[in-house]
Amino acid sequence: MTTILPHGGQLIQRIVKEEECDQLLAQAQQWKQIPINTWTISDLDLIGVGAFSPLEGFMEEADYHSVLENMRLSNGTVWSIPITLALDESITSTLQIGEQVALVGEQDGVIYGTLEVRSIYTVDQQQEAVKIFKTDDPEHPGIQKLFSRSSIYVGGPIQVLKRPQPEKFGEFYFDPEQTRKIFADKGWKTVVGFQTRNPVHRAHEYIQKSAMEIVDALFLNPLVGETKSDDVPANVRMRSYLVLLENYYPKDRAFLGVFPAAMRYAGPREAIFHAMVRKNYGCTHFIVGRDHAGVGDYYGTYEAQEIFTNFTAEELGITPLFFEHSFFCTKCGNMASSKTCPHSKENHLTLSGTKVRALLRDGQCPPPEFTRPEVAEVLIEGMAEHNKL
Ligand code: ADX
Repeated sequence: MTTILPHGGQLIQRIVKEEECDQLLAQAQQWKQIPINTWTISDLDLIGVGAFSPLEGFMEEADYHSVLENMRLSNGTVWSIPITLALDESITSTLQIGEQVALVGEQDGVIYGTLEVRSIYTVDQQQEAVKIFKTDDPEHPGIQKLFSRSSIYVGGPIQVLKRPQPEKFGEFYFDPEQTRKIFADKGWKTVVGFQTRNPVHRAHEYIQKSAMEIVDALFLNPLVGETKSDDVPANVRMRSYLVLLENYYPKDRAFLGVFPAAMRYAGPREAIFHAMVRKNYGCTHFIVGRDHAGVGDYYGTYEAQEIFTNFTAEELGITPLFFEHSFFCTKCGNMASSKTCPHSKENHLTLSGTKVRALLRDGQCPPPEFTRPEVAEVLIEGMAEHNKL
C-alpha cells in the first residue's frame, strides 16, 4: 500500500547504522565536544529519524532567514519554525567551517551525534521573536526560551550516534518509518493526526471523533518533550490517554504514539510545523482546533487555521481539518460548536485551564461533560503526586 509522501519527498534517515557506530564514535571522541541540552538532543533525534524531513541538520543561515521571512526553506519547501543550534561564543570562536564536532549531552556526557559545521551566524533574536511568535514580550514562554539562548547559531548536517532513552512509556515511541509501516499494515489509507500537550478533555475527544467519522483512523500523538512548568506532566497525561482510549475509543481505529519534541508555543507557525511533522509520521489529515499551540492571549482563536491559506494544498501535502471552538451545550445535551448549536452562551459549559487545574488540585472532578471521570481520576492522582514532589 502506498502511504503519503514525506515532506520534501523523502524520509530523511540520519541514524548511524549499528555496524558503523563504533568507528564513528571513536572518531567523534577525537573531535571538539560540544555540550547540548535536552531540547537540542530531542531536535537532533527528530532530525535523525526523519520526523523533521526534509531537514538533514540544524539550519544554516540561508534557510534560517528564509524560514523567518517566507515560512519556507531556501529551496521553497514549506517550513515555519527555525530548528537551530545555539552555541556560546566561547565555543563558536574555536570552530572552523567544514570541521566535524561531537554533540554531547551536557548532563550525561554521552555523545549523541555529530555535526558538520557549515554555517556560523549571529541572529537578531528580537526579530526572530516577532517573526515566529508575533510578539517580543519576554513573558511569552517561547520567547523566554529564545532569549535564554546564545544568539550565535551553528548549522550543518548531523548524524545520530545514540538515541535518547525514555524513562517511561517506551512502548509508545515510534519513528516515522515505524508508524508509516503500522498504518499501512493496518490497511489505513487515511489517518488523522492529533497534536496535544494537554489531557484529552471532552472538547478534544469531540473534534477527534468528528474527524474519525471521515477518515480510517486517529493517530493520537501527544507532545511529550519539554513543556512549560504549569502544563500537566507527560507521564500523567500518558496515563490519562490510556484510560480514555481503553474506555471510549475503538481499539482498531485509534493508535497512540508520542511526539518527543519540545513545545514552542508559537501558535500559527507551530500549527504548520506540527502538520508537516505529522505528514512525516504518515498522517494524511491533521486537526487544527481553536488557538492551536497558543498560550495566553497572544494569538487569535483561529489564527492557527488562517495561516494555512498561505500555502497550496500541493505544497502542504497533508489536509488540515479545522474545528471551531467546541463545548458541551446543556440545551443540546451534546458536544457542539457555534456551527451546530443555536443556543446562547449561558447554556455552554466552558471551563478555563486554571479553573480545571484548581478543581483537580482540590481532588474534585470537573463535570463529566467537561472531562471523562476516568481521566479526571488519573489527573487528580497525578496532581497529588506532583504536588508532593
Ligand atoms: S496544543 O498546544 O497542543 O494545541 P491542546 O492540547 O489544548 O493544545 O490542543 C490540542 C488540539 O485541540 C489543538 O488543535 C487545539 O486547537 C484543539 N482544541 C483544544 N481545545 C479545543 C476546543 N475547546 N475546541 C476546539 N478545539 C480545541
